[in-house]
Formats: sequence, C-alpha cells, structure tokens
Amino acid sequence: MPAFGCWGLPTALLALLCCPGTGENTFDVHVWSEKQAIEFAGSFKVNCSTSCAKPEAAGLETLLPKKELEGHPQKRWQQYLLSNVSQDTVLLCYFTCNGKQRSKSLNIRVYEIPKNVTLKLQPLRVIVGQTFTIECKASPVKPLRSLTLALLCGQDRVQSHTFEKAPPTLQEATVTFNRTAPKKGNLNFSCQAELDMRPYGGYFFHSTSEHQILEVYDTELVIIIVVVSVLLLLFVTSVLFCFIFGQHWHQKRTGSYGVLNAWRRLSRSLRARVV
Ligand SMILES: *[C@@H]1O[C@H](CO)[C@@H](O)[C@H](O)[C@H]1NC(C)=O
Ligand SMILES: *[C@@H]1O[C@H](CO)[C@@H](O)[C@H](O)[C@H]1NC(C)=O
Ligand SMILES: *[C@@H]1O[C@H](CO)[C@@H](O)[C@H](O)[C@H]1NC(C)=O
Repeated sequence: MPAFGCWGLPTALLALLCCPGTGENTFDVHVWSEKQAIEFAGSFKVNCSTSCAKPEAAGLETLLPKKELEGHPQKRWQQYLLSNVSQDTVLLCYFTCNGKQRSKSLNIRVYEIPKNVTLKLQPLRVIVGQTFTIECKASPVKPLRSLTLALLCGQDRVQSHTFEKAPPTLQEATVTFNRTAPKKGNLNFSCQAELDMRPYGGYFFHSTSEHQILEVYDTELVIIIVVVSVLLLLFVTSVLFCFIFGQHWHQKRTGSYGVLNAWRRLSRSLRARVV
C-alpha cells in the first residue's frame, strides 16, 4: 500500500533513532525557525512540533512578543510569529505527553548592520614616504565581535581590523590605520564595515563609507616648489631693501627737509616772477 509505504518507514526510523527501547511515555520535541540570525527589531516564524500523538499541553516560552499562527488540531505542532527582537535570546518549546514534559531550546542571535560608516583622512596632502592616518568608524553595530572594519584603496582591501574582544554592549567601532604614501598620484580611500553572521545561520553583510582622495606629491616637485618660493622671497626682500636703502641715502644727501626746501625755493621764485 502506498500510504503505508510513505508513512511506515519514517515512523519506524524515527522510533529506532530517537526512542530506542521506548515505552509509550517517550516522545520528541522539535523547534524550527525560519532564521536564527534576526535583524534588530525584526520578526520571524517559529514552529514547535512533537512526535506525541495527543499532547495534553504545548507552548513556547520567550520574552519576545509572540502571536499564534497556524496549529495542528491535536496540538502536534504550532506556528508562532515572534517580533521586535532587540537582543540575543533563547526560545523554549515544550509539550506534555502522558503527564511527562519535554522541551527543546533554540538560540536566536540579533544583528544590526551599521547605518553610519565614516572615514577621516589626515592630512589630505602628503609627499612620498610621509605617513598619514585614516580613521574608520561604524555605528550602530550588533554584535561588534562579528564586525570587521576594512580599509579599501580603490577596489583593493589594504588593511583590516576585527573586534573579537569588544564588550558585548558596545555598539560603536573605531579603528585608526597608519600608513605611508607609496608613490605619487591620487589614492582613493574608503572604509568598509563587514558583519559576518554566517556562523550563526545568517548572512554576510557589508556597507561602505564615502570615499576620500589623498594627494601624494613627489619629493622633487616639493623641493622645486620650496626653492622657487625661497628665491621669490629673496627677490622681494632685496627689492624692498634696495628701495629703503635708496631712500635713506637720498635723504642723507639732500638733508631731511630736501622736499620742503625745494618747495620753498620754487614758491619763492614763482612769487618773484609774479611780482
Ligand atoms: C510545523 O512542523 C510540523 C512538523 O515538522 C509540520 O508538519 C507542519 O506542517 C509545520 N507547520 C507549518 C505551518 O509549517
Ligand atoms: C520593541 O522593543 C523596544 C525595546 O526593546 C520597546 O521600547 C518597544 O516598545 C517595542 N515595540 C513593540 C512594537 O513591541
Ligand atoms: C573613488 O572610488 C569610488 C568607489 O570606488 C568611485 O565611485 C569614485 O569615482 C572614485 N573617485 C575618484 C576620483 O577616482
């Protein structure tokens, strides 16, 4: 019979695997969740089920707000909607069968992908071989221990930092990378925040900051600029000096009231001519 073929084997296997040498009192409890890593403030479905044919009682213990969805008429399974996940939590499904209670727990991890990823470059211009710093910041992050802050130069990942030892309550990550300018040209930097929830049944997330350009100049160019500036300064100073010295020399030769005397002489002669 096909019906027997479908159901007989799994039931027999289940009995063999889970309940060796059982009496009627033994039964299984299963808990299934559509996801085990939940985004902050998110919701998810959970199904509690049992191998007991007619449980007397069933339920799900949790601190989260829960709503009963579909269920089996004999309480063999029940689906729930849990919402507003704000921290890591443990769920507990329980069933009572023939006066005996059994339960199964499930760990739920909450994560938060950082909305703010920023980069601070200092200074914005350097010469080849000079050091500069780049500060990367990400917030709010959950859990910080699953975060990596990576420094990207163009498309290349040049350095990274993890936060395995961060206190569990901390939600902001900062790292400062010290680097040396390799060659002249413009370097395009950005910070990437990576949150790896794969070990907890989740996904790998990443978000990137705005980019910033570092201008790297050649040493020779800088020397040329400095020499030209010094020469220009010397030229201006000498012109100024010549002017002042010239004035002084002229004053000495003509006396301090040279201009006034000349004017008096001029007006006297003019008056003489008029008269
Ligand atoms: C809940 O789990 C049981 C046992 O695996 C299954 O038979 C039932 O269809 C599930 N219910 C839902 C709504 O997925
Ligand atoms: C969600 O949880 C936060 C704190 O954990 C609480 O302040 C808020 O009222 C909750 N919202 C809902 C809709 O339950
Ligand atoms: C820097 O890189 C970003 C992303 O990789 C790109 O969008 C941007 O155009 C680049 N800017 C320059 C000036 O190369």
